[in-house]
Amino acid sequence: MISYKDLGLVNTKEMFAKAGKGGYAIPAYNFNNMEQLQAIIQACVETKSPVILQVSKGARNYANATLLRNMARGAVEYARELGCEIPMALHLDHGSDFDICKECIDNGFSSVMIDGSHLDYDENVKLTSRVVEYAHQFDVTVEGELGVLAGIEDDVVAEKSTYTQPEEVEDFVTKTGVDSLAISIGTSHGANKFTPAQCTRSEEGILIPPPLRFDILEEIERRLPGFSIVLHGSSSVPQDLVTMINSYGGDLKDSVGIPEEQLSKAAALAVCKINIDSDGRLAMTAAVRKVLAEQPGEFDPRKYLGPAREALKEMYKHKNINVLGSADRA
Ligand code: G3H
Ligand code: 13P
Ligand code: ZN
Repeated sequence: MISYKDLGLVNTKEMFAKAGKGGYAIPAYNFNNMEQLQAIIQACVETKSPVILQVSKGARNYANATLLRNMARGAVEYARELGCEIPMALHLDHGSDFDICKECIDNGFSSVMIDGSHLDYDENVKLTSRVVEYAHQFDVTVEGELGVLAGIEDDVVAEKSTYTQPEEVEDFVTKTGVDSLAISIGTSHGANKFTPAQCTRSEEGILIPPPLRFDILEEIERRLPGFSIVLHGSSSVPQDLVTMINSYGGDLKDSVGIPEEQLSKAAALAVCKINIDSDGRLAMTAAVRKVLAEQPGEFDPRKYLGPAREALKEMYKHKNINVLGSADRA
């Protein structure tokens, strides 16, 4: 058994309590490799923001679970070396069953998500409760999910979203004992969050997505005052990055994300954790494409991964300061 406490990590309890009171959200940034982790740590140290380092099943398959755990341990030391000890949690994103959650809890994770959102309600309660019962013995926090987001999460594809039903939330939280709850109010995973038919078009031809269902969020907050809510699928899909990718040979179509103002509004309400992965992918891809297009003779990975890391860091700093409000909260 490797305890996250011995790695210098923290669970999400205190960070969520402070975020809830302060009206901001903790960034949960996914990482799969060294450059992404460096960018996250540098950005969060420079902005003095707490952070959740998020690892998906796909990341574990890609990078190796042992390496990822030791990278997180290294991240704690790295932040110290950069001169600022920020609260850092290591979180399993979209845990699909009890075994993967247990494996992470036993191997240094301070927080896990058990995603039973695709199960029927009673099965979701049963599975989530089992994970909570195990996790809480080790002071590991657990995120559950009610409602289904459209898009792709690991191997699960949902064609359409099903909004969270506020009537179910109190019962779910009471029965399972989860520490936080991911809800579905109109966000979705990936860079194509809405079809063009769901959007309106601005005069410049930019797709404007429909607003999030803040009425559902507010009703959940009314029923469960002070409880920590999580928003997945919260990339903004910056159009300058989409344009840059396409201008250097990419082919992204109808990419549209969640406007930043809506994320800030959610953070000021009950949302304590905001998940962002796709925007990081876009920032890195745009920077790599630019270098390779402009310098076709370049073949040193540091020459394109270095600028990609820098672009990622700047984007995360912007989010911490201007969107989530987590800067200066470490
Ligand atoms: O919600 C999904 C995350 O963006 C992780 O994506 O499963 O491709 O690593 P992944
Ligand atoms: P995005 O695809 O919007 O970045 O969402 C990431 C996410 O929810 C990870 O769990
Ligand atoms: Zn997600």
